[in-house]
Amino acid sequence: MHRDIERILLSEEEISRAVERVARQVTRDFVGQEFTVVSVLKGSCVFTADLIRQIPIPLALAFAEVQSYGAGTTSGTMRTRLMPRDEEIQDRRVLLVDDILDSGRTLDFMKSELVAQGAKSVSSCVFLDKPARRLERFEADYRCFEVEDVFVVGYGLDFAGHYRNLPYVGALRPSVLEGASPSMGEVSP
Ligand code: IMP
Ligand code: MG
Repeated sequence: MHRDIERILLSEEEISRAVERVARQVTRDFVGQEFTVVSVLKGSCVFTADLIRQIPIPLALAFAEVQSYGAGTTSGTMRTRLMPRDEEIQDRRVLLVDDILDSGRTLDFMKSELVAQGAKSVSSCVFLDKPARRLERFEADYRCFEVEDVFVVGYGLDFAGHYRNLPYVGALRPSVLEGASPSMGEVSP
């Protein structure tokens, strides 16, 4: 385990079982329809890559970047830095994929942007759901796990840009969250 991680919340095995379950639900609901998966960068890249490989029906893939977090753990200003091309969205069903549904601001904002761009429908799929922190009235259509109100990293989720490459989801040690610099790449057995 990485030395900055206090405990593992979700193991690789648990994650892969949940991703398979959600992929089956998506496949069942989208079969026979034109749809575009819009992955919200950067956090959902790992989840999206695993998810789409378990969905055996035609789909298009697009990316959007929204920044609602700076280097810390609380919500800041929201900016869209990149959006899919019109033809990837217009008159198509969209499955918006994100790493975590927290306050709900990111997905609420993204959903209205995609509707404004002419999407026929926008469904949402999140790896993690933290309902305790919700500020917007927003629920995901698909989710892998509900998690407690603790800041987590790994499987795409970062703290100040680090830990996205951990294959599991873990809680950071309080000393790291309080500002000590992450011990990059150091792994203890
Ligand atoms: P929301 O807009 O508040 O729902 O936040 C969604 C975004 O906040 C996610 O895409 C993450 O980038 C970030 N986020 C929220 N909670 C966590 C966490 O526990 N760990 C890492 N990133 C988080
Ligand atoms: Mg994110």
